[in-house]
Amino acid sequence: MFRLLDLLISLVLLTLVPRINCLQNGTLAKLKRFVNCEAKNYKPSEVIYRDYWVLQNYVLAGHGSIPCYANVTYTSHADYRYLDNVVPLLERWRSPLSLAIYAPGTDFEPTIRSILYLLQCHPGKHLVRELCSFHLYFDVEHLPQVVLPPDTSLREQANCSGPAPYENVVKSDMYRTRNTLNYPVNIGRNIARRASLTHYVLASDIELYPTPGLVRDFLNFLGRQVLGVPGQQRTSPMVHALRIFEVKANVSVPSSKSELQELLKSGEAVPFHMEICEVCHRGPGLEEWINASVVSKELNVFNVGRRSENNSNWEPIFLGTVDDPPYDERLTWEGQRDKMTQAYAMCVLDYEFHILDNAFLVHKPGIKQPGYRKTIFSQTRRTDGLISRKISKELRMMYGFRDGCVI
Ligand SMILES: *[C@@H]1O[C@H](CO)[C@@H](O)[C@H](O)[C@H]1NC(C)=O
Ligand SMILES: *[C@@H]1O[C@H](CO)[C@@H](O)[C@H](O)[C@H]1NC(C)=O
Ligand SMILES: *[C@@H]1O[C@H](CO)[C@@H](O)[C@H](O)[C@H]1NC(C)=O
Ligand SMILES: *[C@@H]1O[C@H](CO)[C@@H](O)[C@H](O)[C@H]1NC(C)=O
Ligand SMILES: *[C@@H]1O[C@H](CO)[C@@H](O)[C@H](O)[C@H]1NC(C)=O
Ligand SMILES: *[C@@H]1O[C@H](CO)[C@@H](O)[C@H](O)[C@H]1NC(C)=O
Repeated sequence: MFRLLDLLISLVLLTLVPRINCLQNGTLAKLKRFVNCEAKNYKPSEVIYRDYWVLQNYVLAGHGSIPCYANVTYTSHADYRYLDNVVPLLERWRSPLSLAIYAPGTDFEPTIRSILYLLQCHPGKHLVRELCSFHLYFDVEHLPQVVLPPDTSLREQANCSGPAPYENVVKSDMYRTRNTLNYPVNIGRNIARRASLTHYVLASDIELYPTPGLVRDFLNFLGRQVLGVPGQQRTSPMVHALRIFEVKANVSVPSSKSELQELLKSGEAVPFHMEICEVCHRGPGLEEWINASVVSKELNVFNVGRRSENNSNWEPIFLGTVDDPPYDERLTWEGQRDKMTQAYAMCVLDYEFHILDNAFLVHKPGIKQPGYRKTIFSQTRRTDGLISRKISKELRMMYGFRDGCVI
């Protein structure tokens, strides 16, 4: 069955990809002229970074090096349980993906088997091979038993008749759970973003799927907008935020705003995490965005928000660049508030969040109920303490103050 699917997928790839990724005339030339970026070396490397070994570009994507101005990279963090998202994500994104995977101790081995499965067995393996760069990282105190060089490791045969190694993993059996290791989410976010070959990135969570054609539309949009007006210096930096929605488990992910609006009307879709943390994802003008009927399919800016004032808990996900403020690596997933310090820095730097219309993110189907992220009180308390005692002082020193910016 896989063979036939493979064939179908390659046919679809061959016929569709060139057309759906067409950029408007002049866009590339404008990007080349106005985007200030440098090409990076695209090769595997191993470095010690803080208390971690980082195997950057352990798996290289088939696309090879690409001009830094000419594409957008989706950057994300994960552990191997989340690798089921790679193909559905790439089917929609169809552009580079830079993925940092936390794989301490004996979690390393199933991580490698999961990657091999994606590269050799999955019906969408063509997309994975072409588009995905994998980086692996683990604590220097929690080394895997064996780490083979990538070319040896990638020559191993995956067991394509067994189930995908990333399915049905019991979290309590994982090495990191048994050793009560916190998930270093921001280390992963920064590794993935640093490894991006392109200047523009969508730093996101791997379960958030973008609308198809977003990269092409965004580059064309940049060509039409800001970059097209030479001499017009912007005073505030800006990024382009995407609204986020969830759909019920048995609903397929909407591909256009009008499809999304239908699902919102019938209650099969809702804004992201409305029941868990409304203020984290609302952002300004959500109802108006939902209400506004689609007049053009072109990407455009619906409204502009800042993080100050009524949006001080907003955690937007946005199309930005590798030069935006980094994520604070002392903050962990378990401690929560892991994006708050970046958001504070962006508030003080007066970033404008241009909220896009006709593009959005949808969480992997299934609406989460409150309580899914079990709060571990001692860790949230530790994070709160760390932020109020130490990090907030540093941030004020580094970035200064601005009215309305809170941590
Ligand atoms: C594309 O734009 C360039 C310069 O803006 C122009 O010289 C060229 O003729 C255009 N090509 C097409 C196919 O429109
Ligand atoms: C591959 O997986 C199948 C199904 O789980 C199993 O029966 C078989 O023994 C595995 N083969 C190898 C070589 O591990
Ligand atoms: C971005 O890069 C991928 C991989 O090379 C390519 O398939 C896609 O067409 C590129 N996107 C655009 C808009 O050029
Ligand atoms: C999804 O499930 C609900 C019940 O939970 C049902 O009413 C609805 O018809 C289902 N939708 C589809 C598309 O299967
Ligand atoms: C959205 O549309 C409904 C129905 O047309 C209207 O009652 C409501 O006031 C609108 N809300 C906003 C925020 O525009
Ligand atoms: C903030 O919220 C308050 C109360 O809801 C409202 O009166 C005020 O206009 C809002 N400010 C902005 C800038 O939206």
